[in-house]
Amino acid sequence: MTICAYVTFDDRDDHDDERELVLGAWRAAGIEGKAVSWDDPEIDWSVFDAAVIRSVWDYVGRRTEFVGWAHRAASVTKLLNPAAVIESNTDKTYLRELGVPIVPTHWSSSDLPRWDEYVVKPAISAGARDTIRTIDRAAAEAHAARLESEGRTPMVQPYLDMVETEGETSLLYFNRTFSHAVRRNAMLAPGQTLADNARAELRTPAPDQFELAEKVLAEIGGDLLYARVDLVRLADGSPALIELELTEPYLFLRYSEGAADRLARALGQLL
Ligand SMILES: Nc1ncnc2c1ncn2[C@@H]1O[C@H](COP(=O)(O)OP(=O)(O)O)[C@@H](O)[C@H]1O
Ligand SMILES: [Mg+2]
Repeated sequence: MTICAYVTFDDRDDHDDERELVLGAWRAAGIEGKAVSWDDPEIDWSVFDAAVIRSVWDYVGRRTEFVGWAHRAASVTKLLNPAAVIESNTDKTYLRELGVPIVPTHWSSSDLPRWDEYVVKPAISAGARDTIRTIDRAAAEAHAARLESEGRTPMVQPYLDMVETEGETSLLYFNRTFSHAVRRNAMLAPGQTLADNARAELRTPAPDQFELAEKVLAEIGGDLLYARVDLVRLADGSPALIELELTEPYLFLRYSEGAADRLARALGQLL
């Protein structure tokens, strides 16, 4: 019997509404899954055929510890995604290295460009944590400076209105094979809550979005059990990467018939 760890942040947690779906699909594919916390010191990772990182949503404030855990776990079991991927993907400075179109980004608090509206976020974040949207250039500068004073790398971007109209498109790939895509909610629109982050609608990506997503994935080496490529459009209509989620993406499995089974099959292929 194959046994895999479903890596979460608290096995009492009931916020991860994809966990039971995934564990059920694994079971149907002959893979026994056990939900475990990444930081549980009692866990012997070597007993698992693989450890699949999922809802580790508390790593953001403890990224060094988390990346250290990933390397240790990867030395005794098959970690998915691989530790090197986790290390680079948990800091959005990876966006500078990919060589694909990204959202225009100013990486410091000084000499901000002039934009109609700003988004300021830390390079290490998830779920729009410590992220602000403002039309006030001085406020944007102040938030970026605060992040810097905490030793964090700020990212200052123009606010892209299209997230509220066409919407952000997230393409889901399992073992590099396209599974499904969704239109995401605009997280910085008024009245959004964290729960809205998991609400979406199924969407068929346009050819230019498929093309960019596949170009992005081609930049990443190694096994990728799951990848979520989050795309927006710039003012000229061209697609751009806003985030490549290879660490702990919500997978929107409920939105597409068979998606959890496709994930289970991808895991079987990588074992
Ligand atoms: N430049 C931007 N313009 C418009 N919305 C943005 C922008 N940057 C972030 N957002 C919104 O905030 C959300 C979270 O930002 P993101 O860069 O994906 O970081 P994370 O998901 O890691 O917090 C996005 O999904 C989007 O809804
Ligand atoms: Mg995101």
